[in-house]
Amino acid sequence: MYDFRGKTALITGAARGIGRAIALELARGGATLALNDVNEAAAKEAIGLALEAGSPKAKFYGFDVANSQACNGGVESVVADMGGLHIVVNNAGISIDNLLMRFKDEDWKKVLDINLTGAFYLTRAASRPLMKSKAGAIVNIASVVGEMGNAGQAAYSASKGALIALTKTAAKELASRNVRVNAVAPGFIDTPMTQALPEAAKTKMFEAIPLARLGTVQDIADCVAWLASEKSSYVTGAVIRVNGGMYM
Ligand code: NAI
Repeated sequence: MYDFRGKTALITGAARGIGRAIALELARGGATLALNDVNEAAAKEAIGLALEAGSPKAKFYGFDVANSQACNGGVESVVADMGGLHIVVNNAGISIDNLLMRFKDEDWKKVLDINLTGAFYLTRAASRPLMKSKAGAIVNIASVVGEMGNAGQAAYSASKGALIALTKTAAKELASRNVRVNAVAPGFIDTPMTQALPEAAKTKMFEAIPLARLGTVQDIADCVAWLASEKSSYVTGAVIRVNGGMYM
């Protein structure tokens, strides 16, 4: 467990899944939390759990990360409500899958707008308060397919590959103000989506993973917590692969 007492973390897409697990891990370290999502009901449930887990204050911010003005306003509200901002986790993401030759313009745009442009809007909006915090940390949630590609995931893999490039550029620009920017690239994570796969598909998946199991949301949250903490104070511009060895 890490010590996040006195730190405020803004996590996007924090209502469920990986984002919620990250929120709860930071809560266990005593972080003040700004939980963003477009799913208000699930986010409110996550806030209750975060307070139970040890967060002294947790509030919901319902902005759409794909909206530039909303990101600016969201960050301003967080700073006004919480008195500052130290950690940003760009986790909100969607996937729309189809073969490249059948991919619709609007689906391409939607995926890129949320997964990539959303992270850019929020990073830009949060840069100033993070610099003021004197030890800021941004963690971007990429994906194994951002590095290796995946048939049927043109927009998703492109968004995650570009998010890795954005991570490195932001790391270079913000380093002089001691704001570190890193990415976590998860492999297959045990979620309702992967649980619903047929046994044959699961067996094939395990064969591609040297550690022969799916990852858990906690595997990702543990890595994010380390990158957000001062225990990783000399790490910036890194892409940490949390994928059981499926891509090295
Ligand atoms: P999820 O679908 O369970 O959670 C994503 C959350 O983001 C949802 O609560 C959703 O309401 C929110 N969201 C969607 N659009 C938004 C928007 N415009 N503004 C604000 N919030 C929005 O997904 P999961 O599995 O927890 O994924 C989280 C991140 O991890 C995503 O970036 C995903 O691409 C990445 N990832 C997931 C993997 C997996 O196996 N589940 C593998 C690799 C990466």
